[in-house]
Amino acid sequence: MKDEQCVRFLQWALPQLHMRWPAFRKVRKQVCKRVDARMRELGVAGIDEYKAYLHDHADEWIQLDALCRITISRFYRDQGVFATLQDSVLPILAQQALERGATQLRVWSAGCGSGEEPYTLAVLWATELQSQFPELSIDIVATDADPNVMRRARDARYKFGTLKNLPESWRDRAFALEGENYCLKPEYKLCVQLLEQDIRQEQPEGPFDLVLCRNLVFTYFDEALQLEHLKRIVDAMHDGAALVLGIHEKLPEKGRGLAKWFDEQRVYRKNSGIVEPKGV
Ligand SMILES: C[S@@+](CC[C@H](N)C(=O)[O-])C[C@H]1O[C@@H](n2cnc3c(N)ncnc32)[C@H](O)[C@@H]1O
Repeated sequence: MKDEQCVRFLQWALPQLHMRWPAFRKVRKQVCKRVDARMRELGVAGIDEYKAYLHDHADEWIQLDALCRITISRFYRDQGVFATLQDSVLPILAQQALERGATQLRVWSAGCGSGEEPYTLAVLWATELQSQFPELSIDIVATDADPNVMRRARDARYKFGTLKNLPESWRDRAFALEGENYCLKPEYKLCVQLLEQDIRQEQPEGPFDLVLCRNLVFTYFDEALQLEHLKRIVDAMHDGAALVLGIHEKLPEKGRGLAKWFDEQRVYRKNSGIVEPKGV
């Protein structure tokens, strides 16, 4: 399929899946390749025939939806975000959790990819913060709709390229080198619960202290779906909890319930009237 044909097809199909075409402009080639492969698999001759197939087979929209998942991620993605989490956000949230009498800091990584995001946080907590908060453990629920990335997350073996941004001392401590693969040591997997979930259908039970929803809802979903999910996410957060978006994302304009906290790093906080816990 030629690029113009694929562009026209995606501009037609994505809104029907409640997704935004502009988000796919730069990454369309991988989606187009998958659509091409799918058309070969079905034995349909071209994009018009595939559109007719979609018309006649409502279930095919589910297949197409899955072909549109962009799964790119890496450890310590957007270093400034993790530095802000380490230096400011997590210590405040941890203190807040302790004052509430909690023994766990609860985190949700929504659209967690192959585990890069939740495992970065698990390693960060264990290496930098656990000793400051010995009474508190971290409990990370990581969800993703894609069975392939979930399999990779469970496997937790990565090539160097995925890990190259991670501070070297963390990498040396948390991974064992097996051939060309960096394998996450089991103790860093224990605090991460992986769930295959489509965020449009289900989400893990809150309340959470921290939600990472980066490079999924607020990039690919249309405005109505963003608003619906924002409400559900905010409802699943403690007062004073934090929501982190992707570095190029923003909240939908009509979104309510959150205030900017660390604006440059796209960190928002529920209930801005909060008074900081003592000693932070
Ligand atoms: C671009 S990756 C972002 C990964 C990570 N959050 C990050 O920022 O590096 C988006 C992830 O969202 C997942 N995803 C796409 N649609 C989803 C849905 N409806 N529900 C849950 N996860 C979804 C994809 O499988 C992919 O792993």
